Amino acid sequence: MSHVEHRGILLAGGKGTRLYPLTASTSKHLMAVFDKPMVYYPLTTLMMAGVREILVISTPGDLPRYRALLGDGAPWGLRVEYAEQAEPRGIAEALVIGEEFIGDRPVMLVLGDNLIYGRYDFLRKSVEDDPTTARIFAYRVDDPSSYGVIDFDDDGTVLSIEEKPKDPKSHWAVPGLYLYPAGAAAEARSLAPSGRGEMEITDLNRRYLERGKLRARKMGRGTAWFDTGTPQDLLEAANFIEAIQRRQGLIIGCPEEVAYRQGFIGHDHLMRLIGDLPACAYRDYLQLVAEDLV
Ligand code: G1P
Repeated sequence: MSHVEHRGILLAGGKGTRLYPLTASTSKHLMAVFDKPMVYYPLTTLMMAGVREILVISTPGDLPRYRALLGDGAPWGLRVEYAEQAEPRGIAEALVIGEEFIGDRPVMLVLGDNLIYGRYDFLRKSVEDDPTTARIFAYRVDDPSSYGVIDFDDDGTVLSIEEKPKDPKSHWAVPGLYLYPAGAAAEARSLAPSGRGEMEITDLNRRYLERGKLRARKMGRGTAWFDTGTPQDLLEAANFIEAIQRRQGLIIGCPEEVAYRQGFIGHDHLMRLIGDLPACAYRDYLQLVAEDLV
């Protein structure tokens, strides 16, 4: 089924204070989750959804490091652009910053510290759904109190959404992956800052809810979601990636492989990328991908 292609926004801003002193001299989203930079995981989530035009937003101090890592995206069949978020003024501000980049398209926003692995059918289905409705996801967690939390009915209609509630109404947390219709930037711009002075993504989602334009889809048990906000979260995510990769001999969150399998780049192109890599396990793996051995 054909659909309007979403523009992508990857938000890698903020100070990462909960990870201090790890983040004293490094951007949080460039830190390792086992064997690759954290940002590779949300980036490949966008790629798996077919999104190829991506705006990376970070602090003025950190942007040069993202440019050094991701460049213009062309080697991975992408178009990557960059924009600054000077102060951590909230997730919803990313849409305002990206207004020109988004243009008249729907947009997929992903947070740079969110790692999603496993079945992606929930996302592929949502991309093809009615693009005039905002779409969020629901993932069961034991303790949802540090996330956005929703209550929703069987057909995906969201009944309530709360940010970090002390007394959550459900176990359904909202991962940092959001699909918005065209016009989301103007909607975000009119949000009042919250008590902590931020443009809250939950307030934006509530706007769509009030209009009957917010739907949720479950990320089922075949999908793993991690948010790597604390040192323990980071270690857990790294352990998970290491365990699955070592067991299967397959690499998770590898942009070169995803670009190749999604048809963004061809075989010759992949061979050139491999030729540019230093000798390392990552290169050996891509060689297997190119030879159709994994
Ligand atoms: C943000 C959102 C929250 C969401 C979470 C997912 O929280 O405000 O609704 O559940 O991301 O990672 P933060 O982690 O920035 O505090």
